[in-house]
Amino acid sequence: MRVVIVTGASSGIGRATAARIGRAGTTVVLAARRADELETNAASIRSAGGEALVVPTDVRDPAAITALVAQAREVTGRIDGLVNNAGVGGVASILADDELVAKLIEVNLMAPIRLMRAVVPLMTEQRSGAIVNIGSVAGEIGISGTYSATKFALRGMTDSVRRELIGTGIGVTLIEPGFIATDLTSNRRGLPGPEIVAAAVERALSRPRRRIVVPLKYRPAITLANTLPALTDRIFAGRAASRREVKGRP
Ligand SMILES: NC(=O)c1ccc[n+]([C@@H]2O[C@H](COP(=O)([O-])OP(=O)(O)OC[C@H]3O[C@@H](n4cnc5c(N)ncnc54)[C@H](OP(=O)(O)O)[C@@H]3O)[C@@H](O)[C@H]2O)c1
Repeated sequence: MRVVIVTGASSGIGRATAARIGRAGTTVVLAARRADELETNAASIRSAGGEALVVPTDVRDPAAITALVAQAREVTGRIDGLVNNAGVGGVASILADDELVAKLIEVNLMAPIRLMRAVVPLMTEQRSGAIVNIGSVAGEIGISGTYSATKFALRGMTDSVRRELIGTGIGVTLIEPGFIATDLTSNRRGLPGPEIVAAAVERALSRPRRRIVVPLKYRPAITLANTLPALTDRIFAGRAASRREVKGRP
């Protein structure tokens, strides 16, 4: 029985991922704050023949992270996968205040770091495991203020952890979605659904990769930003740092 933790499993990409990987032979450990949504998602996994464990968790709380990993470990004694997906967005402008900035850093950066720190000793002992971090195209192109800052940092952290763990049997993958239809992007129309990211996570859990951009069409924009930054400045001039409201629940 494989055990995989998915944070942010109450909605969007996390819910789709949990549904996709939750099947006979895998116990999905669903973590987020909204227990009712987690229970509903767990029930549909079980009714499709899978195994699911609900652990209501605020990933900003280090004690809650310790408890989440301990409960996941109780299932079989192993933790085979960790999907660091919980995230909040918005706060694009430099004028966003400390409270908002700190919240993004806690959820999008500190939580994945703490969760990796909590599972790596066990995965090292097992000599196997897969960590999948959900970054963003905004972690390649600086266009969303503190959100971009957290996703750039998560990219650096993911590269570093992957290199630190080479030879241990632990694979570390960064998945960078473009715009995907979820609560985070409720003001946009015509976006692909979260299932395309869930499919990429599923593949990365069994065949870890350095970096996966979904959909692929965002790759040229990333290459452009890296090779022609002055042009990228012009394209995003005045658009990058709008003073949008925080997306995601407070
Ligand atoms: N949608 C996009 O276009 C897009 C693009 C690039 C990257 N991403 C990334 O994809 C990931 C998932 O986002 P989504 O688009 O699926 O948005 P979403 O539907 O709003 O999901 C966000 C998830 O994060 C959880 N979360 C937020 N704060 C939390 C906290 N303090 N503790 C525990 N869980 C918390 C939420 O659960 P609760 O509220 O129940 O706690 C929810 O399950 C994020 O990392 C996001 O940055 C999304």
